[in-house]
Amino acid sequence: MATALIDIAYLLASVLFIFGLKRLQSPATARYGNQLAAMGMLIAIVATLFIRNILTPAEMIGGLALGGLIGVVLAKKVKMTGMPELVAAFNGFGGLASAGVAGAEIARVMMPNAEIGPDGMLFSTTAAITIALSILIGIVTFTGSFVAFGKLAGKISGNPISFPGMRLITLLLAAGAVAGGVFMVMGAGEFPQVSDPVVTGALMVTAIAFILGILLVIPIGGADMPVVVALLNSYSGLAAAATGFVLDNTALIVSGALVGASGFILSNIMCVAMNRSLLNVLLGGFGGDSHEGESTTMSLEGKTVQSTTPDDTAILLSYAESVIIVPGYGMAVAQAQHAVRALSEELLKRDISVKFAVHPVAGRMPGHMNVLLAEANVPYDQLFEMDDINGEFETCDVALIIGANDVVNPAARHDKSSPIYGMPILNVDNSKTSIVLKRSMRPGYAGIGNELFYNANNRMLFGDAKDSINEIVAEIKQL
Ligand code: TAP
Repeated sequence: MATALIDIAYLLASVLFIFGLKRLQSPATARYGNQLAAMGMLIAIVATLFIRNILTPAEMIGGLALGGLIGVVLAKKVKMTGMPELVAAFNGFGGLASAGVAGAEIARVMMPNAEIGPDGMLFSTTAAITIALSILIGIVTFTGSFVAFGKLAGKISGNPISFPGMRLITLLLAAGAVAGGVFMVMGAGEFPQVSDPVVTGALMVTAIAFILGILLVIPIGGADMPVVVALLNSYSGLAAAATGFVLDNTALIVSGALVGASGFILSNIMCVAMNRSLLNVLLGGFGGDSHEGESTTMSLEGKTVQSTTPDDTAILLSYAESVIIVPGYGMAVAQAQHAVRALSEELLKRDISVKFAVHPVAGRMPGHMNVLLAEANVPYDQLFEMDDINGEFETCDVALIIGANDVVNPAARHDKSSPIYGMPILNVDNSKTSIVLKRSMRPGYAGIGNELFYNANNRMLFGDAKDSINEIVAEIKQL
């Protein structure tokens, strides 16, 4: 009876995970999708703890209240720009939890009254393999995620860090981890009790995985961390799925497999949108610390840029019939999304068409711009993906580029030597006038100059994006 109830709860949870994931496809349904998946997780956890008599209802309510409180405080405290590092920390704890459960399984069979299986062994060879995998992937995810967290939070240098012979050492360690796993599995097969090889093998895998996680992530540049975080998210799912096999727990296997697959698909989507292979991200050492503070003023073959003022921009915008706003990482830094919505509303009042063009890798994390614009209540029907809006720049009067740089750099189309060559971009240079809002001539994430800034139909509006937009809105209101 208890098993049947748990199976039904796990089935329901799995259905909710899948429907929840499906709804994450669009910003309009993403919040609901998140709630559905969270509900699934709650059902799975409560069913396990309650039906198996692991915790009393009072203990569960206490745990829920404490966990809920931590979640609310984190959600309120962490800034949008700090989200990737928060996700990195979550992944790290997920990996540690999976490894911890696998370790607990070894500890369980070491108890004097442990149950002996039908084959006369405390655990089977298959269980030993999954425990070894769970520890390996879980601990690699744990240390790798915390290195990613450190790089994103600026606590560790964002520059790729490497030393001579690093790749060879990494390979040797990986071989050592496999050897530890084999040692452990052989021990489980040979002895009717948990023997030394099992414990020694598990400790060996744990220690090696700890160093491997660090060595795999430190040579990657800080700016590539979002891709790494998505990949580590995928690993944490695989570790959870492996733990699901250890415990014979369907809900863990299903949720782990879903996280594993979706994390991998997401890393791949980011790589395709940047026109780079996953291998290039992992081995490329691309993108170090941010270029803030550098006084690079680029001039392309002696060309100069034309700057403009908030007043002139306000006049240009109020005489336009159609405006396309292109948000980028600088909008997130300036926290200009509310000012941008106010500008859009002001223009709409004057019957000017306003659309938002969202590049798939604008900002520093997937959906970064969508989340910010949703937070500022910009209606979803004003948001357009790159492929849907690119054709409209030709007929657009003003393209307003707010803190975006790489995603509008025409070099991606023709400069084979450019690190962003091949990356699809938003065709803002096709519009009648483009205006770029940024503070200086410093480059963006890819660290390269942008020829768009020197185009005859482009104007630069220097300054913090939020301040500039507030001034434009104030001026439009006076016109
Ligand atoms: P970037 O090319 O990074 O450019 C952002 C620009 O914002 C900078 O040039 C900066 O210029 C400006 N800025 C910063 N603070 C500002 C402020 N307070 N006010 C106004 N402007 C400000 O951004 P993008 O166009 O969004 O491109 C994203 C890049 O990140 C791409 O290269 C992409 O491949 C990479 N990337 C994205 C992701 C995801 S998933 N989104 C993941 C990994 C990598 P100033 O310093 O002169 O102000």
